[in-house]
Amino acid sequence: MFCTRKNTTQVEKKWWKEAIVYQIYPRSFKDSDGDGVGDLKGIISKLDYIKSLGVTVIWLNPIYSSPNDDNGYDVSDYRNIMKEFGTMADFDALLKGLHDRGIKLVMDLVVNHSSDEHEWFKQSRSSRTNPYRDYYHWWNAERGKPPYRYSLFDINHDAWRYDTVTNAYYLHYFSPKQPDLNWENPKLRQEVYSIMKFWADKGIDGFRLDAFQFVAKDTTFPAFPKGFENTFWLYYAMGPHLHDYLQEMNKEVFSKYDVMSVAEGAGNNFTDAHNLVDTNRKELNMAYAFEGVDIAKSSGYSLLHFKEVFTRWDSAFANNGWLSIFLANHDQARLVSRFGNDNPQFREVSSKMLSTFILTMRGTPYYYNGDELGMTNAGFTNIEDYRDKASLAEYQHVKNTGGDVQKLLNEMQFSCRDNGRTPFQWDSTANAGFTTGTPWIKVNPNYTTLNSIAQETNSNSCLNYFRQLTKLRRDNPVLVYGKYTLLDAANPSVYTYTRELDGVKFLIVLNFSAVTAQAHTAIESSNATLLLCNYINPPAAPSLNNITLKPYEARVYKL
Ligand code: NOJ
Repeated sequence: MFCTRKNTTQVEKKWWKEAIVYQIYPRSFKDSDGDGVGDLKGIISKLDYIKSLGVTVIWLNPIYSSPNDDNGYDVSDYRNIMKEFGTMADFDALLKGLHDRGIKLVMDLVVNHSSDEHEWFKQSRSSRTNPYRDYYHWWNAERGKPPYRYSLFDINHDAWRYDTVTNAYYLHYFSPKQPDLNWENPKLRQEVYSIMKFWADKGIDGFRLDAFQFVAKDTTFPAFPKGFENTFWLYYAMGPHLHDYLQEMNKEVFSKYDVMSVAEGAGNNFTDAHNLVDTNRKELNMAYAFEGVDIAKSSGYSLLHFKEVFTRWDSAFANNGWLSIFLANHDQARLVSRFGNDNPQFREVSSKMLSTFILTMRGTPYYYNGDELGMTNAGFTNIEDYRDKASLAEYQHVKNTGGDVQKLLNEMQFSCRDNGRTPFQWDSTANAGFTTGTPWIKVNPNYTTLNSIAQETNSNSCLNYFRQLTKLRRDNPVLVYGKYTLLDAANPSVYTYTRELDGVKFLIVLNFSAVTAQAHTAIESSNATLLLCNYINPPAAPSLNNITLKPYEARVYKL
């Protein structure tokens, strides 16, 4: 089925374009057995809550067997469930519970690397002639030290780890417990496709490919090229054969099931991004680009920059390919703390304003659990309270190299991904109702007032506003497929745009600032309907060409 974008080409309708993705970080969502770690039964107990949000797809962070060096992003068995999270029977019940409610499930697939405790790696490291040796990247020590490669999670930033058993180094772009898999090996690729089919045959609805941009490597491992010292990811992304691998994966797996596919990252430029998702190339469904989410810094960000980035990406994809829209995930601190204003005076309005943005843009929205409540950064000040191994390794690195540890801690208060991983705040009882035990990471103390039960009965809460937004998007294809046009581009405080499809036109006006601001739309419509606003009883605007907005006010009009 197709729909027409006014003045543009036809766009093919797909369920994954119409999806509203809600990301669940299982470790922090709901603990059912009192061990302090969220689990599948916990998620099952909240299925009605999830349904009530009006979201249509769940993306689950990894739930496979794992020693948890990186909270499940180090998989030791791709066909089993992590002990702390439950059993395969729990998984089957979860999938059924979601499907019974009309919600689809997307799984995280972590195949740039495995855990060093995976059987493949145990075999691989055991001898140079083991059949699994080439499942990973090894460099025999008699060749000398391998050429430098940067590691994101290593205390010394060194991606090569020496292993005495075979007198060789193995490659790990992430932690030493996450050895990189060798995608040049066709056997390894077939193993991955078979794992994917195992889950697709169970009936899951899609895959999010973790760190997939990094899988393709020049396995001659030449010297690290000059100029990429501070932008290693540009060198790591889009290596040789990446598109071949994706086309093969598409042929072997995606084409055989009605699953959606999205990879983390979108290459280094629009050509890469298009090549990853152009339908006729048969690779992935949609791009997940980081430029937008990376805008927020502890020093703040400029709305003009924000508008420019989102407009540029939309234009590049207007007639070609499909985007994801997100401002938060499990690798980021909290949405409202990074992009809004978590000062109690503005927390709710700014959180609702940001949700309005995410749910009214073109592209598939990805919304992170807890943001519907406007959960905020915990902002831990003691290193002992942090759990993220990557951040702890960086802390150790700075300490070992005589750097400014306090400066790093200050930065972590704003940006550490543990801020987005504190337990979901269900109610005002002990540990926010997340667990009856000791939570694996501290609960944000503001749970006593900021929690889902408190918001459930308040028609004006962030939670209920989010529900209105998801309904608005589900009821109005213009918000999914409609053409996006930026208005009032030079306004430094207000983001204004229209969405337009088959004669239906919406106007979205968002004040990103903490003070009153004016929006100028150049629209002189007299019969616009205000569909949604994040303030109660907003005064009617005498003219749409001059709308006075309260701090962080968001309005959605139908023209
Ligand atoms: C990206 C994931 O989103 C992140 O959480 C993880 O630590 C790395 N990939 C390594 O798997």
